[in-house]
Amino acid sequence: MTTEQKHNRIDQKAFRRALGNFATGVTIITTRASDGTNIGVTASSFNSLSMDPPLVLWSCIKDTPSCVVFESATHFAVNILASDQMEMSNRFARQQADKFDGVEWDKGIGGVPIFPDCAGRFQCEAYDKLDGGDHWIFVGRVIAFDDFGRSPLCFHQGSYSMVFSHPETFPDSGKSTLKDAGEGRMSNHAFFLMLRAVRAYQERYRPKLTTLGLNLVESRILLVLNDFPVLDARELVVHMHTPINEADEALLSLNDRGLVMASGDGYALTELGKSKSEQIWALAAAHAKETFKSFSEAEVDTFTDVLRHLIDL
Ligand SMILES: Cc1cc2nc3c(=O)[nH]c(=O)nc-3n(C[C@H](O)[C@H](O)[C@H](O)COP(=O)(O)O)c2cc1C
Repeated sequence: MTTEQKHNRIDQKAFRRALGNFATGVTIITTRASDGTNIGVTASSFNSLSMDPPLVLWSCIKDTPSCVVFESATHFAVNILASDQMEMSNRFARQQADKFDGVEWDKGIGGVPIFPDCAGRFQCEAYDKLDGGDHWIFVGRVIAFDDFGRSPLCFHQGSYSMVFSHPETFPDSGKSTLKDAGEGRMSNHAFFLMLRAVRAYQERYRPKLTTLGLNLVESRILLVLNDFPVLDARELVVHMHTPINEADEALLSLNDRGLVMASGDGYALTELGKSKSEQIWALAAAHAKETFKSFSEAEVDTFTDVLRHLIDL
């Protein structure tokens, strides 16, 4: 589907949603204000720029309190988050005075706070600042870096995700013409089979979910509200780990479509929302039934027991 830009006007929500197809890592960019205050902002706009000189960049919304500090900062650090750091990401994605309370940090170059336990870190001195519309593009010259190699936290279509190797990068994964040197050892290994099975299951399920007119975050909100009758965006962040701005946006869109309604301090499902959430469960159940149709009930029970056992090991 193509959304055309007419008369220089663009539907910002649709534009943002389309941009969300570009999966990124998640960073917290930190600096120190001249009065010694620690500053940190969750940012997915980080990217590598140049090898010689070693440059990186990120962009910051001009209209935020932290941006003013970055504009005059001599140094900043890029902390690439690991997959178990969603809480950190959500904490630094909210405007609040006590972002660093209870968070472990070390003093880096220029007094800039840097975080342990992340996937990688780049300490930079300010190199350039470019106008990028409603964002400033900050370019930093890397003067020190750490490569911890931890599995990174990713962000895609408004939701956190993780990196798994693509199943087709393994020899003999179905389509490969390479001869499997291990005589099928790799393709029959439980780990590779599980990766391929999850991918196949998800690829067949996602298009079905789209037929209900919901994206992933919206459908999860409806399911959570089915279990917890009234929740506000902050509580949804706790239950789903979705960043607050994504939760807010999804709630507004569900409200516009009559699927949720304001109730007390939060939101509750409307009758229409309840029936939509039943439809999601029915879709999930039908998908599972279709997937396992050639197995007996006892075999499916054993399969789920094995999966539970693997999770709890
Ligand atoms: C996953 C994710 C990525 C984000 N990426 C950026 C970004 O690249 N640049 C930016 O300015 N804000 C980004 N934000 C929003 C900021 O984190 C948010 O506006 C934050 O409140 C800014 O901090 P401040 O209010 O203390 O200035 C992102 C938020 C999330 C959840």
